[in-house]
Amino acid sequence: MTPLFRLITILGSRRAVETAAREHSSRRELFARRCDACHRAGEAARALTAYPRAVYGRVEPLEEFLERHRAEEPLAWDSQATADLIAYLTEESR
Ligand code: HEC
Repeated sequence: MTPLFRLITILGSRRAVETAAREHSSRRELFARRCDACHRAGEAARALTAYPRAVYGRVEPLEEFLERHRAEEPLAWDSQATADLIAYLTEESR
């Protein structure tokens, strides 16, 4: 690797790390707003391994569970918020 290429790689990966950290903290805010009152992140993250699960002989992905979970504040299964929440919980469960 040439020094210049190495420098570009280092700067690029630092930016990727910073971007990931920023995204993680905005997902954390989303979790705090929508889930924290009843769940701690660590507990909800552990529940991830239970999904997809079988309910009455049907497969239920986490997206579907969350869509039905809180009728007063619905989360569409294919919404950005659901994707971000699951990404957040996945990151927290590592
Ligand atoms: C008002 C309280 C409340 C809020 C807010 C809430 N939950 Fe829950 N959650 C519960 C209760 C009570 C249960 C257990 C009963 C059930 O399964 O519905 C539960 C169950 C769950 C489970 C299933 C756990 C298992 O072991 O199967 C997951 C996953 C979950 N919640 C995720 C979330 C996420 C993600 C959010 C934010 C979008 C959220 N919850 C918001 C009260 C809440």
